[in-house]
Amino acid sequence: MSDKLFIFDTTLRDGEQVPGCQLNTVEKIQVARALESLGVDIIEAGFPVSSPGDFNSVVEISKAVTWPVVCALTRAVERDIDVAAEALKYAKRGRIHTGIGTSDYHIKHKFNSTREEIIERAVAAVKYAKRYVEDVQFYAEDAGRTDNEYLARVVEAVIKAGATTINIPDTTGYCLPEQFGKKILYLKENVVGIDNVVIATHCHNDLGMATANTVSGIMNGARQAEVTINGIGERAGNTSLEEVAMIMKCHHDLNIETNINTQRISSVSKMVSGLMNMPVQANKAIVGRNAFAHSSGIHQDGVLKNRESYEIIDPKDIGLDENSIQLTARSGRAALKFRLEMHNVNLDKEHLDQVYEKFLKLADSKKDINDDDILMLAGQERASSHRIKLDYLQVTSGIGVKPIASVGLEIAGERFEAAATGNGPIDAAIKAVKQIISRKMTLQEFVIQAITKGSDDIGKVHMQVEHKGMIYYGFGANTDIIAASIEAYIDAINKINE
Ligand code: KIV
Ligand code: ZN
Repeated sequence: MSDKLFIFDTTLRDGEQVPGCQLNTVEKIQVARALESLGVDIIEAGFPVSSPGDFNSVVEISKAVTWPVVCALTRAVERDIDVAAEALKYAKRGRIHTGIGTSDYHIKHKFNSTREEIIERAVAAVKYAKRYVEDVQFYAEDAGRTDNEYLARVVEAVIKAGATTINIPDTTGYCLPEQFGKKILYLKENVVGIDNVVIATHCHNDLGMATANTVSGIMNGARQAEVTINGIGERAGNTSLEEVAMIMKCHHDLNIETNINTQRISSVSKMVSGLMNMPVQANKAIVGRNAFAHSSGIHQDGVLKNRESYEIIDPKDIGLDENSIQLTARSGRAALKFRLEMHNVNLDKEHLDQVYEKFLKLADSKKDINDDDILMLAGQERASSHRIKLDYLQVTSGIGVKPIASVGLEIAGERFEAAATGNGPIDAAIKAVKQIISRKMTLQEFVIQAITKGSDDIGKVHMQVEHKGMIYYGFGANTDIIAASIEAYIDAINKINE
């Protein structure tokens, strides 16, 4: 049977300490609910004594979530613990997380104290918290730089005092994975009562080793990982939830499971990044924009033949619909075809060759070729083989004049013309087209976008037209936005005929 790893998310406490990332209570509730649906076991909701806002968030999150344990942070100070207990009063299952610095740096410089006195304060805080809740977690701040023998004495004392989870933070992100793993093993082997509590890792990423240290801790007996979404947190951040969850999923050899519904990872990552104004670096493991983007021709070919050639994670497992084969000047026809087919654009060999030629030209001048670009190229190609073609379009519009449009269409080789007025040039042009093609069609959606930024840029128009209960999608791209709109409209009408 596999062991369970508890996921303790501190996005709303350690993550939220990042300057500029503060959330209001409503946003925190939104994140807490998302964490609940993700399957997080414990949500650290805040540090209630630190501000009325934090207090209120812990109260509201306690009311908002049902299943996860809600945890509140305190120092080893009675007033902190009183306030945390008050904030947790609506929690279905509440946890107080109290603790104190245990490294000599903290004992001497932060507390001007002694090792013995620190043990006494730690024990007193745990006993005090126990008056309010059964579930008390103790943290030994800067445990990463605390010598193992002393750390074991602290841990043994707080377990005796009633702590049920023991958190071993590498507060400064200093440890090497092997060192951190040995620390956990040392506690497992030398602390009386350790088997009756859960050991937690809480690793910071100052040297880029947070996840490696967490995994090393788990391999040596820790069964709670303290993490944040996208690895956000003070300085270089905390261990990221998505990395730990996917490592446990990929490495069956570890025989450890989490409760995380990994298919929700991508959407929760985007939500947190958006709410906190914290963009995710493009090459971030699991959730970065490029995490599944294969841009070299050799990789793309391999992935298309068999995904496992270059991927250890199926993008669907984190809730991404499809592998984003990134199109660049080095991509082959197969990648282009695959990407077009994802949008239901199936071209025969001749047309695909023509689009590919245009694609290579565009890729030489544009680094990131996106779906809209290739749809535009394919659209131009398809338009040349449409039954209904736009022959000409002339519009007059401005301030103080009634917009008027004349349109010439070629339908199966025959030429038709019409003119109409409207409340704008696009309306006039569409009415003129409708005079020629007298079908009952309703415009459902009409989106105009610029491809890049300049006023001389190509405008793109996406349109949805309804006919007899069916929706037909049309696309047009032109430096003249009115022409692009009519091209999109005619593209949609041609699909009705197909
Ligand atoms: O990094 C740390 O030591 C912490 C503790 C307060 C748990 O965040
Ligand atoms: Zn921390």
